[in-house]
Amino acid sequence: MEKETRYLQNRLLPDSAAPLFSQAKKFEELMMVYSCAIREVRTKLEVLNDELSVRYNRNPIEFIKTRVKKPVSIAKKLEQRGFEVSIESVQNNLNDVAGVRVICCFIDDIYDVARWLAKQDDIKLLEVKDYIRHPKPNGYRSLHLIVEIPVFFSEGKKKMKVEVQIRTIAMDFWASLEHQLRYKKDLHDIEDSEAIGEELRQCAETIAKTDIQMQSIREKIGVFTELT
Ligand code: GTP
Ligand code: MG
Repeated sequence: MEKETRYLQNRLLPDSAAPLFSQAKKFEELMMVYSCAIREVRTKLEVLNDELSVRYNRNPIEFIKTRVKKPVSIAKKLEQRGFEVSIESVQNNLNDVAGVRVICCFIDDIYDVARWLAKQDDIKLLEVKDYIRHPKPNGYRSLHLIVEIPVFFSEGKKKMKVEVQIRTIAMDFWASLEHQLRYKKDLHDIEDSEAIGEELRQCAETIAKTDIQMQSIREKIGVFTELT
């Protein structure tokens, strides 16, 4: 008999409930592991920011947001992509169950933070999507990394995937509002959806120009310490 089933039966659950509860327990455990992986990545980023703050009076990271994907969204995504909806399938087929969003001040900070994170010897960089150099057609900008990080438990270590989205405050401003608008109403249901899409894209362009201008102001002022 499996350990979890025995544990559940000791708690006087009916036999018929054991398989369901055993699955639920495994899922809960997997989500716990993802949330630990998020904490590991967050700590690394906070350490970087603290060190740079003390050494160079520089804070490349404005703030960090994290989330574990909700069970409903996990199931929906697996289903949509034609994968089996199971615990093994989550680990094998999804890269974004654990999500960390890093909001930086300047564009250069994004690439510095990404480089610094990827070079840590316990982190494996699996994928990079640069939507800053190559924005999405709708105007979306961000640097996306998929990293693998070991999390140490009593029974050994588990390597977990974490999606890290790194963007400026300005990029986050646009992405947050665009996301809200898209969720409030499906743009396809609106008559002039194309014009609205174009307007949103223009907003993204304006914001991107401002980001570049802020970056160049920083360079003029000379508050710039390159990370090695
Ligand atoms: P997903 O199924 O969305 O995860 O696509 P993907 O696996 O190809 O990943 P991609 O790197 O393109 O985007 C992943 C995540 O980036 C999304 O879950 C969002 O958080 C964010 N994102 C991507 N495109 C957009 C966009 O157009 N608008 C906003 N607001 N966020 C976006
Ligand atoms: Mg995603």
